Amino acid sequence: MGVSVGAVRLRNPILAASGTFGYGLEFAHLVNLERLGGFVTKGISLEPIEGAPAPRLCETPSGMLNAIGLQNVGVRAFIADKLPLLQKYNTQVVVNVFGYCVEDYVEVIRRLEDAEGIAAYELNISCPNVKKGGMQFGNDPVTVGEVVGTARKAASRRPLWIKLTPLVSDIGLIAKAATEAGADALTIANTYPAMAIDFRTGRSRIGNLTGGLSGPAIKPITLRLVYEVRKTVETPILGLGGVETVQDVLDYVTVGASAVQVGTASFSDPKVSEGLMAGLERAVLELNCHNINDLRGKFLGENG
Ligand SMILES: Cc1cc2nc3c(=O)[nH]c(=O)nc-3n(C[C@H](O)[C@H](O)[C@H](O)COP(=O)(O)O)c2cc1C
Repeated sequence: MGVSVGAVRLRNPILAASGTFGYGLEFAHLVNLERLGGFVTKGISLEPIEGAPAPRLCETPSGMLNAIGLQNVGVRAFIADKLPLLQKYNTQVVVNVFGYCVEDYVEVIRRLEDAEGIAAYELNISCPNVKKGGMQFGNDPVTVGEVVGTARKAASRRPLWIKLTPLVSDIGLIAKAATEAGADALTIANTYPAMAIDFRTGRSRIGNLTGGLSGPAIKPITLRLVYEVRKTVETPILGLGGVETVQDVLDYVTVGASAVQVGTASFSDPKVSEGLMAGLERAVLELNCHNINDLRGKFLGENG
């Protein structure tokens, strides 16, 4: 079950996704962290952030809407209070990083570079760039090149994964820009902007009015994005969107992902990632395969 995402070696291809697994520690009494391929922390910013008003979550058909507002303890408290406790576990810790200008990303990485116990950084580029009128970093290939290139120079010790926004007209272009600027892997993808309202009261079901859609509803849409990126670049891919079952994992791997991340599914069953592991081993053997890597990229690309 072991896979490599560039230079990062994982004992299996299942990681818990950013924002759905806290700082890992919150799940340690429920999940054997050492059975996972690893996990991605909640997004970390330069300063602590209190987050968005309640309600922050709302269930939708086959999915969930969230607007947490990137609440987090900030990089100083993360390094002082969370990382030392995580080092007790033999698992790969990927730190998700975000900012509101290029300098923010660089400064967070610069501080993390001096800390131990981190396998890689994952840059969340679905954030507004306040210096460019609030347009998301991830929407424009030039800005993507800028933020990834600058972060690449700051991250001299560790691999850099770039988490793409799904809301672009040509994700291949964005993936190419990130790769050329030095991305070691691409996480595909973040949530889809969406809303849910109560027509009786005329109010949104989310404090922030709009939120990000996740869960099984988005899996077919994100699977297509992975396919488009795989056609464009050879950079390792982490498939992320609606993974709930062994079939979901195998679909992403077959289209070309090296590993997957599990997000919303952990809300209904915190142990889901561990369960997927056991099921995946059986499923791979049933396919007469002895190594999950043999299945990667087996999608035919034509139905002839
Ligand atoms: C409650 C919640 C909080 C999230 N917080 C973050 C975050 O801080 N940084 C980030 O890059 N993605 C964040 N995400 C996005 C997830 O990591 C993931 O990309 C998305 O939920 C799609 O995967 P899923 O369908 O398996 O949930 C969050 C998602 C949810 C549901």
